[in-house]
Amino acid sequence: ALYSTRQMLLDAQANQYAVPAFNIHNLETVRVVVETAAEMRSPIILAGTPGTISYAGARYLVAIAQTASEIHDIPIALHLDHHESLGAIKPLIDMGVKSVMIDGSHHDFEENIRIVREVVQYAHARDVTVEAELGRLGGQEDDLIVDEKDALYTNPAQAAEFIERTGIDSLAVAIGTAHGMYKSEPKLDFERLAEIRNVTTAPLVLHGASGISTPDVRRTIELGVTKVNVATELKIAFSDKVKEYFLANPEANDPRKYMEPGKDAMAALIREKIDMCGSSNRV
Ligand code: 13P
Ligand code: ZN
Ligand code: NA
Repeated sequence: ALYSTRQMLLDAQANQYAVPAFNIHNLETVRVVVETAAEMRSPIILAGTPGTISYAGARYLVAIAQTASEIHDIPIALHLDHHESLGAIKPLIDMGVKSVMIDGSHHDFEENIRIVREVVQYAHARDVTVEAELGRLGGQEDDLIVDEKDALYTNPAQAAEFIERTGIDSLAVAIGTAHGMYKSEPKLDFERLAEIRNVTTAPLVLHGASGISTPDVRRTIELGVTKVNVATELKIAFSDKVKEYFLANPEANDPRKYMEPGKDAMAALIREKIDMCGSSNRV
């Protein structure tokens, strides 16, 4: 059965590693993620944005993830990434999703708390874990665009109050990462992260990990990050190899052939990211 992220993230917190959350889109990408994680004995989070859920079809995606969790004896969570309303989340919880992010980060503090509390009440009554975000990431995640200059970093004192008043299970922090790749070298605010860690106890989540160096991600894990979100780098690895394949084989038309190089490249990158997170051989 699908897991929530409660035990996963508490184990990661207790043992100083992070569980990788990979954004998936279809049967191919789900299989690459879970099969690679199973080889490496890593717990794994499959993340789906609202755009992905509607692209893949909610019932198809839930059924695929549930089947993956029956085939493989590692903890697998299907996690709703950057969902923005209880209305969007409810039907998916009712279908069997056990882990959700409610992203109210574009609202003011009090409204963010109000929206998140609503989701926490619904979710916790059904043994579902909730992640929320305070502060804002730059870049673009599907339809959500934030000007990089307007990105607001998480305030540590507010973070403590936010966790306390919402009852969330994990907190996504804004410390200088952005969704997508970076135009200039990203500078992470490790001091801020350390301060947040000092005044809170909930597992912390790093969004926007594509384009962040392995040493920088590892440093965030040392400072309390227990879930690392990777989306864009996987899409690039997959699509680059499919493009190469079509350039070399312009007559190709068989998905069983042209998808393979993309899947292999994605698997290789996932191995690297699992190593980066230190999550292999944890199950
Ligand atoms: P990247 O696309 O930068 O890896 O960000 C992923 C993410 O935060 C998904 O929620
Ligand atoms: Zn994100
Ligand atoms: Na990024």
